[in-house]
Amino acid sequence: MAKTETRFVCQACGAAVPRWVGRCSGCGGWNTLVEEITQRGGKRTRHSLSPDVPGPVSVDSVPEDAAARLPTGIAELDRVLGGGAVLGSVVLVGGDPGVGKSTLLLQALAGLARRGAPALYASGEESVAQVALRARRLFGEGSFGDKLKLVAASDVADVEAAASAVSPVAIVVDSVQVLRSADLESAPGSVSQLREVTARLIELAKSRQAALFLVGHVTKDGALAGPKVLEHLVDVVLAFEGERGNAFRALRASKNRYGSATEVGVFEMAQTGLAEVPNPSELFLAERPLHASGSVIAPVTPQEGGARAVLVEVQALVGSPQGGMARRVATGVASSRLALLLAVLERKVGIGLATSDVFANVAGGLTIDEPAIDLPLALAIASAARDIPCPRDLVAFGEVGLAGEVRGVARGSTRLSEAASMRFKRALLPASTAERLSERDRAGIELVAVRSVHEAIRYALELG
Ligand code: TYD
Ligand code: MG
Repeated sequence: MAKTETRFVCQACGAAVPRWVGRCSGCGGWNTLVEEITQRGGKRTRHSLSPDVPGPVSVDSVPEDAAARLPTGIAELDRVLGGGAVLGSVVLVGGDPGVGKSTLLLQALAGLARRGAPALYASGEESVAQVALRARRLFGEGSFGDKLKLVAASDVADVEAAASAVSPVAIVVDSVQVLRSADLESAPGSVSQLREVTARLIELAKSRQAALFLVGHVTKDGALAGPKVLEHLVDVVLAFEGERGNAFRALRASKNRYGSATEVGVFEMAQTGLAEVPNPSELFLAERPLHASGSVIAPVTPQEGGARAVLVEVQALVGSPQGGMARRVATGVASSRLALLLAVLERKVGIGLATSDVFANVAGGLTIDEPAIDLPLALAIASAARDIPCPRDLVAFGEVGLAGEVRGVARGSTRLSEAASMRFKRALLPASTAERLSERDRAGIELVAVRSVHEAIRYALELG
């Protein structure tokens, strides 16, 4: 076999040089050179299929559900994956430090191991002793037999060797950014290392038909560190999200080659690890004040295009500024949305708050970026400004336009059935959405169709 060789290629102009330099001699770009492997050994040109690749087949001859699923036993995780992890697939799990990525994946492997499936946890961040301590604390001494194996790994070859020894059905690599390939000179975490390490791990998952989970760190602006390139390589990309100081966590798929990317799984971080939250609405409404002004319940769909609706409490508080400028603070909704609604309330409804402090919050720590949150937020602000509570059996959803009109939103029936399941009786909703709903879609909820914010506020605060 020929020796592996590397070269440095300019990502801007494609010029290649044998040594790294700060500036490309081809195009003059700074820091554009990335290390690449030129030769992995053996001859590369070939005109026949590899012996282990079957010839082309017709679509109809491929059996349905050829992909074997491996349920982890964590229902919320399995649902987001599309019914369990697919053997031979690679799942990238991204999220802020401390959100619970290691805990989630350790629990997934533990679930498999306890049902007798061999599993491998390769840790480059925490020591084997730390991971073992956590596993024992969460699941108790001796609960895995010898099925869950831990290995400290800093080189991708360590993971490959451990996988040969263990023959796992599921592998966790925590994290992909700390692994390196000795074939490359660049530091772990660099783009070239990440690409090479990931390529080798994908090969490992495919050749062993194991489900592989890669932990990936996220940068300040929310992107997976460095490599968009990683997202292209893997089969599934999951984001694990949660606010600091809040126990609630959401797991979403942003890419899924084996299922829909519209599911969201909900967890709560507890003393005993991550607990599944099968009914998030219950969690979010548990501490809701019943006769307070400034509180409105909204059925939202946390994932764009998502099949699931969740009830959240939208809160607003209006106060007098303590000297100086009036403050606007939005948590869980965009501040631009709050500013727009305040302008609409002032110009179209006559509720002027220019000289007041306004605080808006989505209780529970969820961040909502769908327009359906507009109407409940406007109602919460109006309710706070007038100090009149909204009816307690009422939910509201709808987009608000600049003219103060209430505009239709998607998934009306999903929202109503969630509201019905939590025993709400009435819904304020856009007239155009109400028109499209059948008797069955209403789920027994009384519909209050409105065309303007003004109308909605009158109903909720004066007539209701
Ligand atoms: P971890 O899984 O290490 O996060 P990540 O791998 O994403 O960096 O979780 C770390 C946090 O979770 C830590 O602050 C402690 C908390 N935690 C609990 O509250 N309960 C538990 O049972 C565990 C294992 C962790
Ligand atoms: Mg971790």
